[in-house]
Amino acid sequence: MATLEIHDLHVSVEAENGAREILKGVDLTVKQGETHAIMGPNGSGKSTLAYSLAGHPKYTITGGTVTLDGEDVLEMSVDERARAGVFLAMQYPVEVPGVSVSNFLRTSATAIRGEAPKLRTWVKEVKSAMEQLQMDPAFAERNVNEGFSGGEKKRHEILQLELLKPKIAILDETDSGLDVDALRIVSEGVNRVRETGEVGTLLITHYTRILRYIKPDFVHVFANGRIAESGGAELADVLEAEGYDKYVKGGATA
Ligand SMILES: Nc1ncnc2c1ncn2[C@@H]1O[C@H](COP(=O)(O)OP(=O)(O)O)[C@@H](O)[C@H]1O
Ligand SMILES: [Mg+2]
Repeated sequence: MATLEIHDLHVSVEAENGAREILKGVDLTVKQGETHAIMGPNGSGKSTLAYSLAGHPKYTITGGTVTLDGEDVLEMSVDERARAGVFLAMQYPVEVPGVSVSNFLRTSATAIRGEAPKLRTWVKEVKSAMEQLQMDPAFAERNVNEGFSGGEKKRHEILQLELLKPKIAILDETDSGLDVDALRIVSEGVNRVRETGEVGTLLITHYTRILRYIKPDFVHVFANGRIAESGGAELADVLEAEGYDKYVKGGATA
């Protein structure tokens, strides 16, 4: 069973007036098969955590460790992290002009599996995953994220998740901007992957509504750059009722 271990992670970004510490000592362990919801107010550092784990160059690690099965993730390049099984579905997926969805998926799968998937089975695999996510087949020929609606971008992220089968999936606000039908379809995709028992999921969200569809094993409250409290699924209900006020008081978030 793969295990992602984050220990006392400190991360800064370069701001106009010098380095600014965003993550202030994050501790978290995610095992394959587990689903962890990370919930917190805007600006608390959730996306910073997601990007730092994926290796975005804008974020400087100033302290702490991240390991996947004991291997130092922070030493790995972005590609190496992806090949090691770390997957990030971005909050704001980026456009890749000139690259079709179909090419992008095949190139990604080839890189991650270490060999090109057999064309016949691959075409079937993609078709069936797209059907389940209720994506029009014509979508495969469009350029990645170019002119995609919010919902289409998120479905495309989940399509990648289903095809790439990572060990650790970080889903950053996959629920944001989705109408109720899209939310259900996207959640069902996450649940299909989850039911394999082969992925550890870090479900980053601001709202509790996605947790009606995806039941987390653990809920963590993220505030002021660290985990302020951890509990089971019931903690999400407390947050729904009481909000984040009690966690953000006394610490600047903006
Ligand atoms: N590149 C950056 N430059 C300056 N500030 C940043 C940068 N990236 C993030 N921040 C700041 O870090 C804080 C946390 O941001 P973020 O991780 O996006 O929070 P969340 O995802 O929880 O809303 C915010 O105050 C944000 O403005
Ligand atoms: Mg965010």
